[in-house]
Amino acid sequence: LSTQVAILGAGPAGLMLSHLLARAGVESIVIEVRTHQDIAGTVRAGILEHGTVNLLVDSGVSDRVLLEGDRHDGIELRFHGESHRVDFKDLVGESVWLYPQTDVFLDLAARRAADGGDVRYGVTDTSVHDVEGSPKVWFTDSEGGEFEIRADFVVGADGSRSSCRPLVPEAQRTWYFHEYPFAWFGILAEAPRSSDELIYANSANGFALISQRTETVQRMYFQCDPREDVAGWDDDRIWAEFRGRVNGNGFELKEGPIISKMVLPFRSFVSTPMRHGNLFLVGDAAHTVPPTGAKGLNLAIHDVQVLFEGLDSHYNARSHHLLETYSDRALDRVWKAQQFSYWMTTLLHTPADANDFSRARQLGELNSVVSSRHGMAYLAEAYTGWPDPH
Ligand code: DHB
Repeated sequence: LSTQVAILGAGPAGLMLSHLLARAGVESIVIEVRTHQDIAGTVRAGILEHGTVNLLVDSGVSDRVLLEGDRHDGIELRFHGESHRVDFKDLVGESVWLYPQTDVFLDLAARRAADGGDVRYGVTDTSVHDVEGSPKVWFTDSEGGEFEIRADFVVGADGSRSSCRPLVPEAQRTWYFHEYPFAWFGILAEAPRSSDELIYANSANGFALISQRTETVQRMYFQCDPREDVAGWDDDRIWAEFRGRVNGNGFELKEGPIISKMVLPFRSFVSTPMRHGNLFLVGDAAHTVPPTGAKGLNLAIHDVQVLFEGLDSHYNARSHHLLETYSDRALDRVWKAQQFSYWMTTLLHTPADANDFSRARQLGELNSVVSSRHGMAYLAEAYTGWPDPH
């Protein structure tokens, strides 16, 4: 096989890149080790920045997000038993959309299929060769056929356990890590919405996030130990934990049968540079953020936009500058999002070794955000997505 851009990974980043390239007349082949059903069945985060929504709609992927997603003009920060609204529309004139990542994947996969895109799910034995010269990608397809793709460029959009990331030689790369002493316990529950907007709650018992999926299914998380085992948690124990973190002062969570539970460990990680020779890394292959603030998917889509601009001008304008500066341009936003996700996480979670000082200091920090238009505007601008300087 031969193509211009070989893409590893058919998550939102890989498929979006393939879609944008096709519109610009650039060929690609996407290979993915998971099956379509595997990806469609994985529960992921649910918040899209306005820029992500605009890209989905304006590039012709789908306008389902506008029809079936929910526009959110703010969030609630809840601490010390009281809710404080952060009004995105008023503060920065923007909104976010609640639209699950799984649906973003389904829309992109359907669009690629309808446009005749070459996307191969369920492949095995993938390996990437000669990224410093003429790249080749080997793989076995779901029917057992063995293939080699020759391509001008290889893009690693293959997630946090990327097989492309280690191809950047150790002597030329830097890996930045930060570990957190907590994880999220996530559930799906059959219950009506408890609130019109998302609630990010800080309490003496730890963090909780009340999110949503549909009229009848809700998504919620509470901070837990990274070694927590879901087997020890029945519905009563889970609801008691949520009540102790969000109920009070007239607010009561609507409860119902829990249909899914999982522990989600997390960390902050960046691998630089995001380019080596003719290999480019996008999304979780290059960086992961803690989930607080839901930046992961949005950041991956931003990488794709920056890389697409570079590839488009390389092929269609014979201008190579944008491609050569991909890594630095993408990393600008990556580090802003690292800072924001770290800040939202430490702002709202309670460390196991919290003492009276750290607890009172944290309430001081939360107060300094909600009592200041500048503090709230910082949060609103980051949460809804910074304007793109490029
Ligand atoms: C969701 C996840 C997040 O990490 C977040 O900050 C907001 C919402 C979600 O799954 O709905």
